[in-house]
Amino acid sequence: MGADLAGKVVLLTGATGDIGIAYIMALTEQGANVVATDLESFSETGREIADKATAQGAGQAVFAGCDITSDEDLQRVVDVAGDRFGGLDCLVNNAAIYRTLGPKRTLTELTNDEWDLVLRVNVRGCWQSIRAAVPAMRERGGGRIVNIASVVSRTGAAGFAHYVASKAAVEGLTRAAARELGPEGIAVNAVSPGLVDDAATRDINDANYLERMKSTRSVPRSMDPEDLVGAVVWLCGDGSGFVTGQTLVVDGGGVFV
Ligand SMILES: NC(=O)c1ccc[n+]([C@@H]2O[C@H](COP(=O)([O-])OP(=O)(O)OC[C@H]3O[C@@H](n4cnc5c(N)ncnc54)[C@H](O)[C@@H]3O)[C@@H](O)[C@H]2O)c1
Repeated sequence: MGADLAGKVVLLTGATGDIGIAYIMALTEQGANVVATDLESFSETGREIADKATAQGAGQAVFAGCDITSDEDLQRVVDVAGDRFGGLDCLVNNAAIYRTLGPKRTLTELTNDEWDLVLRVNVRGCWQSIRAAVPAMRERGGGRIVNIASVVSRTGAAGFAHYVASKAAVEGLTRAAARELGPEGIAVNAVSPGLVDDAATRDINDANYLERMKSTRSVPRSMDPEDLVGAVVWLCGDGSGFVTGQTLVVDGGGVFV
C-alpha cells in the first residue's frame, strides 16, 4: 500500500479495542502520525499498541490517556498532537460504550442512569471531541472528522435501546457538524459498521447471533475490524474532501441506505 496519509496527524479515540487497534495499524501504515487515546486504565495496552504501530508503520503513534467526557483530557491530547507532531488534521471518533453495555435489557428494564451514561459518552463525548479538535484543524486550514456510528441505528437492536439511540444521534451530529464546518474546509462523515466479530461483540452477544448475521449480508461472511479500515483511511485523506455529512455503511451489503 502507498502512504496516502503521509504527514497527516490523526487523533483517534477508543484506541485499545479490537477496532481501534485496526485503525491505528492502518493509519500508521498509510503514513499518518497518530495520537491514540483511550481511558487511562488502558494505558499499558495503549502504549504497547502504539509502539507496535510505530515499529511496523510508515508513521508514528503515541498513546495518551483521555476520557472523552473530560474537556481537560481532550485539550491535553490535542496539545500532544501539536507538541509531538506539529498540529492536527483528522479526528476519528471511535470511543463509545459498547463492550461494557452489559447484558441485553429491554427498554422497560433500562434505568435512567444506564441511559444517561451511554448517551453522555457516545453522543456528548463525540461532540466534545469535535469541539476540542476543531480549533487545531482551523490552524491547519481544514481537516477531516470521522464519527463511528452503527447500522443498528437503521436495523434497531433489541436489548440496546440506549445504544441504538446514541448511534442515531451520532449520525445527526455528523450532519450538523458538516453544515457548520464545511465552509472552513473540515469534512465530517460517519462510518456505520455492521456487527464486527471482535472481542467486544462476543462479550455482549451469543455466538449464534453472530453466525445468523452472516446470512443477512450480500457478502455472507463474518465481518472483521480490518473490513472498516479502508473507509476510515479514505475519509481521512485528501481525496474525500468534497464528501461531507454522509454516513458510509460498511457491513458487507446487509443494509442499503
Ligand atoms: N464491534 C461492533 O460490532 C461494532 C459495530 C458497530 C459499531 N461499533 C462501534 O465501533 C467502535 C469501536 O467498537 P469496539 O468493538 O472496538 O468496542 P469496544 O467497547 O471494545 O471499544 C470502545 C472503546 O472506547 C473506549 N471508551 C469507552 N468509554 C470511553 C470514554 N469515556 N472515554 C474514552 N474512551 C472510552 C473503551 O475503553 C474502548 O476501548 C465503537 O464506537 C462502537 O460503538 C462496533
